[in-house]
Amino acid sequence: MKINTAEFIISNSEVSKCPKDPLPEYAFIGRSNVGKSSLINMLTNHKNLAKTSSKPGKTQLINHFKINSNWFLVDLPGYGYAKVSKRTKEIFQKFITDYFEKREQLVCAFVLIDIRLEAQKIDLEFINYLGVTEVPFCIVFTKADKIGKTKIDSHISAYKKQVLANGWEEMPQHFVTSSTEALGKESILTFIDDINQQ
Ligand code: GTP
Ligand code: MG
Repeated sequence: MKINTAEFIISNSEVSKCPKDPLPEYAFIGRSNVGKSSLINMLTNHKNLAKTSSKPGKTQLINHFKINSNWFLVDLPGYGYAKVSKRTKEIFQKFITDYFEKREQLVCAFVLIDIRLEAQKIDLEFINYLGVTEVPFCIVFTKADKIGKTKIDSHISAYKKQVLANGWEEMPQHFVTSSTEALGKESILTFIDDINQQ
């Protein structure tokens, strides 16, 4: 799929204030600093559409971007960032869960996982939460440029083992990406396009 237009629409912390347009939307979620905002920029060919930072905790609101005038990409704050106050964490938590539980336009969540790391409890818990909440999701491994190409398969196999040990019958659909190398771009855009065409 070709991205012709990508425009920022609104940032907010309340699901009730998200755009009312009945357009399909796809949300990016994962631990702080995993590369959610960078992935949105990579997919849309923009350097700064979504704000990125080397410091965790950059994205603090629900951000809607309208793509080709007919679907949305949504950038969300990260979860699991230890340095924000407990109160801030609770507020984030609340509007993130509100988003997943109430946003009817949400078609699929992309759960981002840093390919370098061993499976983290918080990610496995979040995946289980999406399962219980019946939100369709895929896994997106990020920062693949940071490990050698030959190691990608073994990292994914190790991750799969953890997902199965965590109660899943099979590994969810997954993508391998690098925002610096535009790896995984076509696969994700084709996946979204196929759903939008249905
Ligand atoms: P929060 O908004 O804080 O939750 O973070 P985020 O998940 O949106 O991460 P962001 O896109 O801001 O990226 C965090 C850092 O990782 C930045 O320094 C990015 O340049 C870097 N980064 C993101 N994706 C990649 C990637 O694919 N490869 C490499 N090498 N660095 C990346
Ligand atoms: Mg971000």
